[in-house]
Amino acid sequence: MSTVTAFQLADILYTGAGALGKTPEALKAAGLKKPLIVTDKGIVKVGLAKQLEDVLAAAGVAYALYDGTVPNPTDDNVGEAFALYGKEGCDCLIGLGGGSSMDTAKGCGVLATSGGTIDAYRGMGLLKAPLPYFIAIPTTAGTGSESTCAAVITNTKGDHHWKMVLLDGRLLPNAAVIDPLLMTGLPPFITAATGMDAMTHAIEAYISVAAMEYTDALALGAIKLIFKYLRRAVANGNDIEAREKMAYAQTMAGIAFSNAGLGLVHSLAHPLSAFYGISHGDANALILPRVLDYNKIACREKMAEIAKAAGLTDLGPYPEDTAVEAIRRLSADVRIPGSITEAAARIGAKIDPKDIGPMSKDALNEVSTPTNPRVPTLADIEALYNLCW
Ligand SMILES: NC(=O)c1ccc[n+]([C@@H]2O[C@H](COP(=O)([O-])OP(=O)(O)OC[C@H]3O[C@@H](n4cnc5c(N)ncnc54)[C@H](O)[C@@H]3O)[C@@H](O)[C@H]2O)c1
Ligand SMILES: [Fe+2]
Repeated sequence: MSTVTAFQLADILYTGAGALGKTPEALKAAGLKKPLIVTDKGIVKVGLAKQLEDVLAAAGVAYALYDGTVPNPTDDNVGEAFALYGKEGCDCLIGLGGGSSMDTAKGCGVLATSGGTIDAYRGMGLLKAPLPYFIAIPTTAGTGSESTCAAVITNTKGDHHWKMVLLDGRLLPNAAVIDPLLMTGLPPFITAATGMDAMTHAIEAYISVAAMEYTDALALGAIKLIFKYLRRAVANGNDIEAREKMAYAQTMAGIAFSNAGLGLVHSLAHPLSAFYGISHGDANALILPRVLDYNKIACREKMAEIAKAAGLTDLGPYPEDTAVEAIRRLSADVRIPGSITEAAARIGAKIDPKDIGPMSKDALNEVSTPTNPRVPTLADIEALYNLCW
């Protein structure tokens, strides 16, 4: 017998080349006067912040700008953005950038209406009030934060850094502006990592124990699009068709996981970013095939569907293994690091196998672990980290 489920997404999605131009219209329709644009220095440097500023200025909309967001954004970023929000007398928020900027904007909104410090809201449904009006404008095709009820903020105050996940329907944006033209300048290695993050969202939502018909349709649709278009988006950033399909895929995957939850790949990936600064996408991508190999006995039929979504017709005697191989192949083609050691070497991070103990404990306690299709033990998680090392 089925149970009653809720299904939520942003109030409105503006999608397509040129969608950025819809931003002032959305603000004016809601009667708002001054947004705080929350972004990062990379977005400013490549001229994307200027594009938004020009669109707002042309429509006579005043704004303030915070560009201090760092990758895997911190509690300090949220505090700084909120201080500026108050100082500038802003009445709404725009998150412009990848997941880091959009999540910092969400965190700022939480402080604006729920008060206190951001760590108080880690977990499920703990906000005291809806956020101020919030528009999310993604410039990567990965996190799907423009369509999720999640925000991920690094806690820098304990004995080691760890990623806090806030889950609340009130973190869904009022409007999402999904414009593939903002993504053409994304370098191949970030295109690859963020694209594999979207793939991980889609797959983890699809095999989640909380999956349902709506989320299955969106997740499988996203998996198909990513298998078909990620290689092209990495090979040629100006391939608009590939960028557009990847933009759809990230939002579809975001809606799917926002409603069905994630799994052990994300649980293991978050500590890798918190301890070593490995990008969220690379961390997920290098873990994904190993965790799928571990999970496959719990979801053989759905793994077969993933192999079909990869465009394969000869699924072999063990379609679940064919699906894992298709993922490995895609990651190799787009040059995802093959191991934790390789990912750390690429960014010059120092790693230490002694961290596997504390990272495994953090991973077991992650909010995504309960929706994984196979119930893990601490020893299983340690073994998986060792396999990925
Ligand atoms: N809220 C959610 O639902 C959710 C889901 C998944 C991940 N996340 C979080 O999102 C964060 C990762 O976000 P991300 O992977 O999008 O990366 P990011 O936001 O950290 O950006 C990575 C880099 O790409 C640059 N960049 C972004 N867009 C660009 C463009 N169009 N052209 C050139 N450079 C560009 C940025 O300046 C930055 O240096 C992590 O903290 C992760 O935990 C959140
Ligand atoms: Fe993710």
